Amino acid sequence: MSDEAYRLTSPDGSEMELPVRKGTLGPDVIDVARLYREQRVFTYDPGFVSTGSCESDITYIDGEQGILMYRGYPVEQLAEHSSFIEVSYLLLHGELPTGAQLEAFDNTIRMHTMLNEGMLSFFKGFRYDAHPMAMLSAVVGSMSAYYHDEMDASNPEHRDIFSHRILAKLPTIAAAAYKLNIGQPFIYPRNDLNFTENLLHMLFAVPAEPYEIDPVAAEALDLLFILHADHEQNCSTSTVRMAGSSGANPYSAIAAGISALWGPAHGGANEAVLNMLEEIGDVSQIGKFVEKAKDKNDPFRLMGFGHRVYKNFDPRATIIREMCYRVLQKLDRKDTPLFDLAQELEQVALKDEYFIEKNLYPNVDFYSGIIYKALGIPTSMFTVMFALGRAVGWTAHWREMISDSKTKIARPRQLYTGPAGRDYVLVDKR
Ligand code: SDX
Repeated sequence: MSDEAYRLTSPDGSEMELPVRKGTLGPDVIDVARLYREQRVFTYDPGFVSTGSCESDITYIDGEQGILMYRGYPVEQLAEHSSFIEVSYLLLHGELPTGAQLEAFDNTIRMHTMLNEGMLSFFKGFRYDAHPMAMLSAVVGSMSAYYHDEMDASNPEHRDIFSHRILAKLPTIAAAAYKLNIGQPFIYPRNDLNFTENLLHMLFAVPAEPYEIDPVAAEALDLLFILHADHEQNCSTSTVRMAGSSGANPYSAIAAGISALWGPAHGGANEAVLNMLEEIGDVSQIGKFVEKAKDKNDPFRLMGFGHRVYKNFDPRATIIREMCYRVLQKLDRKDTPLFDLAQELEQVALKDEYFIEKNLYPNVDFYSGIIYKALGIPTSMFTVMFALGRAVGWTAHWREMISDSKTKIARPRQLYTGPAGRDYVLVDKR
């Protein structure tokens, strides 16, 4: 705790000191925990633009410098040298694994990819065209029914088993949802395949013929999962922390995070970007849509642009744009209209006064969908892919929250603007 403090003088002249706390990096925080008790006032910050909700060692973002680090390692270095399974170990345990630890962790994940057969029956109840995010959230929530007895959150072993099940089973559930959507049979996972190879196998293999995994696709997905793995106290991660803070079964807390991610202002933006690009259709229409995005009376926003924290380039968008080019090249895609359109849209927007003044840059969702589409993954599955990467971040934050002795149930207050007290009026008097 630092000796520095902010001094607050209330309208009636009373004073109090609000202590300042310093982290390893980033802005200091003003500790307002005593404010209501001593001054009988709340802070007010809809959307938590200026509010730190917790202390965390997991991920650091600098929105001005465009910095993203997992446990202190720059995401660019992890993207270049690591794998999603290794990054998952890092996020969950705080340190890069030794060779032996990585092998054991990878093997554990491979051994937990199957679902309880009863879970597969849920898919018989969904309409064939149910959105895969709705199915993912529902089936992950049902895991709390299957594993309720082995979930003592105070037991570190149970926390590890929960973490392994989430990481290992979400791809199987996601692939099952996709197979329902396309009317193909569910494909069981294989233990001889690594995390991304197994996902591709479960998505695209059919019983009628052998399926050959494209290493370009496996490598691209692994990198995308690394880039989506965690991102500080974003909307869905904060949802997982809030749900978990009541002591709710953590599978239900992860299901709540999946639901929060689905919104187009958050992880649903990657699906919205592709729909937007297809609506724009041609570079000749870009100007019209950029003007719509600037029009206060028009609800249209340039999806995949802007960010609560990044007021410079989202470092993930930079890596994904370069990867987009490489993947399309490796897949020998000569005809890349969507990628060409996205790049032109980016150039036009970044030169526009409105976007410059409001610091609106491409975010992680702007280019990711173009890669997913090039790999044969349908638009409706884009946010599911985001969830498969982010699930380990949600899990790491749940573990940090639940094992912190200072954790209290998250219960914010409000500014009440409703009617003052009034008496009930009998219906025949109204
Ligand atoms: C993710 O938090 C995270 O870390 C999220 C994420 C993660 O990894 O978890 O990074 C993943 O969710 C990325 C964001 C994906 N969403 C989109 O691409 C949807 C389009 N973007 C916007 O809806 C918006 O930019 C947000 C939601 C991302 C951020 O919104 P903020 O921080 O609440 O900012 P704001 O809405 O107050 O915008 C500031 C100004 C506003 O204009 P004024 O009211 O000041 O006049 O910028 C404008 C907005 O109208 N603006 C946009 C815009 N984004 C913001 N105008 C046009 N197009 C846009 N995309």
